[in-house]
Amino acid sequence: GQTLKAAANRNGKYFGAALNEGNLNDATYNQIGRTEFDYLTHENSMKWEAIHPSQNTYSYTNADRLISFAETNGLKIRGHTLVWHSQLPSWVANGQWTRQTLTAAIQDHVTTIVGRYKGRIAQYDVVNEIFNEDGTARDSVFSRTFGGLNEFVTIAFNAARAADPAAILCINDYNLDYTGAKATAMVNLVRTLKSQGVPIDCIGSQAHLIVGQISSTFEAALRSFAALNVDVAITELDIRTNTPASSSALQTQASDYTRVTKACVDIPRCIGITVWGITDKYSWIPGVFSGQGAALPWDDNYNKKPAYNGILAGFPAG
Ligand code: G3I
Repeated sequence: GQTLKAAANRNGKYFGAALNEGNLNDATYNQIGRTEFDYLTHENSMKWEAIHPSQNTYSYTNADRLISFAETNGLKIRGHTLVWHSQLPSWVANGQWTRQTLTAAIQDHVTTIVGRYKGRIAQYDVVNEIFNEDGTARDSVFSRTFGGLNEFVTIAFNAARAADPAAILCINDYNLDYTGAKATAMVNLVRTLKSQGVPIDCIGSQAHLIVGQISSTFEAALRSFAALNVDVAITELDIRTNTPASSSALQTQASDYTRVTKACVDIPRCIGITVWGITDKYSWIPGVFSGQGAALPWDDNYNKKPAYNGILAGFPAG
């Protein structure tokens, strides 16, 4: 039958999902995960606090459950994420760092993980969410210690490239869904660093969207990234609404999913789309946006929502 990955592949794209190893023993989740998608992202278990909880301890058990699921079932992997201010263990976030010692810590972290999975993880979010909404540098232990973004981003990308020259290296952020200060800051940083030889291959746009509210400049923002001669990936797509969702909201959601899918199809440098989960049952949204959710293609009971066919409709038939 029809699947999301088959529809995407016919158009030269992939279709992925964020998965949680803790849910793999849910049989329906497991079955949808291995049949509908050809890419996966660890929802949490490759983040710094999960995989490198203390300076001399790496902890791969949870991450490896999804790696092995992927390898058994023929999915590729987006490694999420190497350097991020959030879900950062306190030994990093509250460490007493100098430029030199934090450089060494970033290099150790990136080299160890990317080296361990060399040839097995196709794509990485090397740095995640480094900008404020106004385009300035987000405050973090990294931006504070290095006095800005350029230096630590350069260190992280160089270390990742050296550890696995074949991996596609991305810079990833949210609210890149419209033109404006944040998208412009992304364009400017990537242009500058690429001109200095920093190996940035791809810009990831998370795309945590709201039903009925996709900007008229959604496509233009993606095109502004592709114009830098990098790949573009939609990395964390979900489209939330108030819950319980009305049937008209679910119809609008379906056309919103069609629009996002079509945007990727229409941009040659867009390599694929990842949805941030499978089922509304396990989505992060209700826990963060009270009264909202219903953002994914499958509902709480694993019924396909109109959104599922909305995605298929965005991929030309044939
Ligand atoms: O692991 C602990 C568990 O031991 C504890 O009992 C439980 C109680 O709250 O918390 C568990 O940790 C939770 C973790 O997910 C693992 O389930 C955290 O509280 C919770 O905050 C964390 O949320 C994740 C969030 O990132 C953290 O920032 C979400 O699942 C995950 O979907 C979300 O994903 C992010 C992307 O990485 C980056 N872009 C935005 C996106 C959505 O926020």
